[in-house]
Amino acid sequence: MTIERTLSIVKPDAVAKNVIGKIYDRFESAGLKVVAAKMKQLSRAEAEGFYAVHAARPFFNDLVNFMISGPVMIQALEGEGAILKNRDLMGATNPKEAAVGTIRADFADSIDANAVHGSDSAENAAIEIAYFFASSEVYSR
Ligand code: PPS
Repeated sequence: MTIERTLSIVKPDAVAKNVIGKIYDRFESAGLKVVAAKMKQLSRAEAEGFYAVHAARPFFNDLVNFMISGPVMIQALEGEGAILKNRDLMGATNPKEAAVGTIRADFADSIDANAVHGSDSAENAAIEIAYFFASSEVYSR
């Protein structure tokens, strides 16, 4: 398998619950390395830009309003098969459908407040990492 990078966000609900460290432990225990990180209060324009691909979906405004409701923790993760590995760690979008032991099963409350975001493809991972980090802010380890 190849070494990949993926963009991960600990969403406002999980930051408010004070479980950033517990979520980072899931990444590190699975062999993923944090190679860039920042805490940030997203502006509406930043959140709309990040989720632009979902602009036509009925939940777009709810998603943007949720993502600007408090600070988020944004990180780039690196490791073998990082994109799929992170999606597996996250669990299904709807926490009610997330497998036991996944981040969303353990820390998410609803499909709106679902604790984490993770890139869904190599193409999107590159776009999403570049959206939040200059290449000089990503430290390959
Ligand atoms: S995914 O994870 O991209 O495969 O899921 P998808 O169903 O395509 O959803 C895209 C993002 O929208 C969020 N979402 C919602 N937000 C608010 N309300 C509702 N009903 C809802 N349904 C989906 C979902 O969490 C995805 O956000 P990210 O940040 O990409 O995980």
